[in-house]
Amino acid sequence: MRVQVLPSERELARAAAWYVQVKVLEAAHRRERVLLALSGGETPLPVYRRLAKLALPWERLHLFWGDERCVPVDDPRSNYGNARAALLDQAPIPQANVHRIRGELGPQEAAQAYEEELRAFFGREPPAMDLILLGMGADGHAASLFPEGPELTEYQRWVTASQPPPQASPAVGRVTLTLPVLNVARAVLFLVCGGDKRPSVSRVLYGGGGLPAAMVKPAGELAWFLDRAAAPGMG
Ligand code: 6PG
Repeated sequence: MRVQVLPSERELARAAAWYVQVKVLEAAHRRERVLLALSGGETPLPVYRRLAKLALPWERLHLFWGDERCVPVDDPRSNYGNARAALLDQAPIPQANVHRIRGELGPQEAAQAYEEELRAFFGREPPAMDLILLGMGADGHAASLFPEGPELTEYQRWVTASQPPPQASPAVGRVTLTLPVLNVARAVLFLVCGGDKRPSVSRVLYGGGGLPAAMVKPAGELAWFLDRAAAPGMG
């Protein structure tokens, strides 16, 4: 596991965009289709804006999402809507390569639809993404896998509906990839900023397990990029 502390959110975004570019180019040397799953939330948005300016094999890059909120795409809480503004509208990605979760269908129907889309794309094998970007909530959730949630023990399905606890933000119905998909990834990069997350970062990286983010143990590489505020022991 690689843990990198960056001096600021801006430096974290710069380092993360570079990391994504390296992983995408490495994957493009090995396989025709490059498979990248985007994180939701606010932290990755500056990364997406930087990615849009980089030279990537866009026509071979397929985008997926780790999770989605069940709101319309034009709702400011939509992970797809935010990624569309930051990246999709700024880069020449073929529309056919954008595999969004249709959150507007509602949790159960959207989860079923995404499961079918992934199985049509990947066939029988669990979908081994080249890179999955994840954030982490202050409660230690990853994607929309929340502490004590029943979704954490879903080992058959690749996608499931998720009902976050009332204190989650936003506390709307969700759709999330399950741990079997997160853990078959060739690489996972966590992007975490903010002092409110430091206690959970410390628990995940150095303490007992138990939090959903600690259950993400990919077959491939696991990296954490933290800003100073989120990094344990940084004063
Ligand atoms: C979501 C996310 C979620 C997010 C964390 C961190 O849809 O909410 O996928 O897992 O990554 O809550 O969110 P921030 O980056 O906004 O702090």
